[in-house]
Amino acid sequence: MKPHLFSDLKIREISFRNRIFVSPMCQYSAYEGVPNEWHFVHLGARAAGGAGMVMVEASAIVPEGRISYADLGIWNDHQMEEFKRITDFIKSQGSVPAIQLAHAGRKASTDKPWTGGGYLPKAKGGWDVVAPSALAFSEDSPEPVELTSEGIQALVTAYAEATERSLKAGFEVIELHMAHGYLLHQFLSPHSNKRSDEFGGSLENRMRFPLMVTQAVRKIMPDKLPLFVRISATDWTEGEGWDLEQSVKLCEELKKLGVDLIDVSSGGIIRGVKIPTEPLYQVPFAEEIKKQAGILTGAVGLITQAQEAEEILVCDKADTIFLARALLRDPNWPIHAALELGADAPIPNQYLRAY
Ligand SMILES: Cc1cc2nc3c(=O)[nH]c(=O)nc-3n(C[C@H](O)[C@H](O)[C@H](O)COP(=O)(O)O)c2cc1C
Repeated sequence: MKPHLFSDLKIREISFRNRIFVSPMCQYSAYEGVPNEWHFVHLGARAAGGAGMVMVEASAIVPEGRISYADLGIWNDHQMEEFKRITDFIKSQGSVPAIQLAHAGRKASTDKPWTGGGYLPKAKGGWDVVAPSALAFSEDSPEPVELTSEGIQALVTAYAEATERSLKAGFEVIELHMAHGYLLHQFLSPHSNKRSDEFGGSLENRMRFPLMVTQAVRKIMPDKLPLFVRISATDWTEGEGWDLEQSVKLCEELKKLGVDLIDVSSGGIIRGVKIPTEPLYQVPFAEEIKKQAGILTGAVGLITQAQEAEEILVCDKADTIFLARALLRDPNWPIHAALELGADAPIPNQYLRAY
């Protein structure tokens, strides 16, 4: 019998050769948001390495939505055209190209991690940041400008336009980034959203903007293509903030709007929170959301072993596995996992003599 990790998966009209998905990973290597040789090689290597889906890093829908000035973007046609070469190559390797659409909100305007990583003020090439409320992320972050309703509406349009470009660039899956303390998560969490208008206060109001974005994006996507959403299932701040119960409600609403899979992460909204990081620590959230909201989920976070990944699927705790750092260490992780689990290994013809 085929291992679960290598069993076929079809979501809408898109078939995935296996359930190993490349988790989105910022490369901090773009100039003006445009993909280049680095992104081609990095993403291409993981498609050739056998992943079922290769997701491009958090790509900003507007320039101010970048975490750092070196993030990828999808706010103009030049970026779209340069992505085409990458999506073509990913498809040629039998994988599915995906893109994560993002806006960093109050966590925008930073340096690259390896040149400091901190907030970059305007004088040093940074920009003004926006958020649901004028509350800084941390002591060394800027005070954001509170978004007006017009500003929110303009961002809904920007998400829709970024979706259109992503589709023209050849992406077959779109993921909305609602996790890790970035803009859409900032609206969801009471830690960062103190608004008193229709976008703040009750859960219904805090979900309003993320759901408006989802609706606008789904409307543009053809029925045959899947839409994913990455969430932080909890802020890890017991008794306050965002938690699993609210996540389940959000996922029920996302499902109604035509979202196909929830990519379940956690944390990121405030500093200084204790997170029990250990192997598989976020898997229980994927399991609960799958059961309670009745939607496909992806498990992510400190999953490194083929056997562990297989067990998550066998025990029906999630439907897919997103891997980040394990795939940085070994782009051929899927090939090696297939050999270990006794499945047909997705080895490119050019590399057959190595095995
Ligand atoms: C270099 C790097 C960049 C990342 N960039 C993103 C990103 O663009 N979007 C996102 O949602 N998560 C991002 N993450 C988080 C990963 O997608 C993943 O959720 C996290 O690393 C946990 O999975 P892992 O234990 O397999 O690495 C990044 C992680 C790393 C290591």
